[in-house]
Amino acid sequence: MIVDNLCNSSEDTLNSIEEITGEKPDFYKVDLRDKEALGAIFQKYDFGWVIHFAWLKAVWESCEKPLEYFDNNLIGSIKLFECMELYNVKNIIFSSSATVYDGKNDIPFQEDQDLGTINPYGTTKLLIEKILEDMAKFSWFKVMNLRYFNPIGAHSSWLIGEDPEWLPNNLLPFIMKVANWDITKLEVFWNDYDTIDGTWVRDYIDVNDLIYGHILAYKKLETVSDSWVEVYNLGVGKGVSVLEMIEVAREVTWREIPYEIVWRREWDLWEVYCNGDRALKELWFSTRTPLIESLANSWKFIQQKST
Ligand code: WQD
Repeated sequence: MIVDNLCNSSEDTLNSIEEITGEKPDFYKVDLRDKEALGAIFQKYDFGWVIHFAWLKAVWESCEKPLEYFDNNLIGSIKLFECMELYNVKNIIFSSSATVYDGKNDIPFQEDQDLGTINPYGTTKLLIEKILEDMAKFSWFKVMNLRYFNPIGAHSSWLIGEDPEWLPNNLLPFIMKVANWDITKLEVFWNDYDTIDGTWVRDYIDVNDLIYGHILAYKKLETVSDSWVEVYNLGVGKGVSVLEMIEVAREVTWREIPYEIVWRREWDLWEVYCNGDRALKELWFSTRTPLIESLANSWKFIQQKST
């Protein structure tokens, strides 16, 4: 069952889910901040679990609209947790983020390092992690905080992918729109950083591997008792630069990817990738999708959409 306010997604996805799984999920177009509507849904179903993805998630946008991010991400989450407690739904998997790590830590980032945020998006993720820790301690929640690094790609069926309503927020959908001639060029946020080629580095995890990580997290939570909380990185454990991503995209799409070095992006870290040892050891999680396959799936999804 899916609850989504459709601010950055489409109901068409439900048809794709049905085509992939043979079942169309129940869907309610509800904003989490509408506690009355959300409560009515909890009353109607006997939920065992919540997986919480309902979130504004563009780092740069959060710097332009901090209060919109605090209202949507924090208030929405708190209303969700209030309904969970009221209807005795105690199991939650929360999509947290690598943006909670303090930039002073050595990379690769690992779960027991210092936390500290430099943009409102990261702050909302960190605050909800902390709130969920207290819900585990004082309300007997079972909590799995999964710290995503940079999710990319499309479902292996090519029926579900990243198709932002307006201009993309993220690198890969931007590159794909340039390859598809929807946008003339990619703007690269500067190139004099201390990385392999001067451009920013990220840990790009394929969305199909991310799904697999959630299934393993679900299985783990089934085995633990109430009042449990744990945090795991979900990433590849390898950094890839913007120019390296452009090169892979050229190889996959057979298209030129024009780009221009423009300006620095503030309020974010220029090199991020994860240490995935804890997820490997405790969830048996490791990524399996090569970067080129993620981009090939994205490209196929974009081409399907264009036909
Ligand atoms: C990737 C790299 C940019 C666009 C994302 C998600 C956020 C969170 C963290 C999970 C960066 C560079 C990008 C462009 C560029 N994920 N870039 N030109 O900023 O790491 O944030 O990961 O919680 O939800 O938004 O990812 O894809 O925006 O950028 O040069 O036009 O590409 O500087 O290094 P980011 P991104």
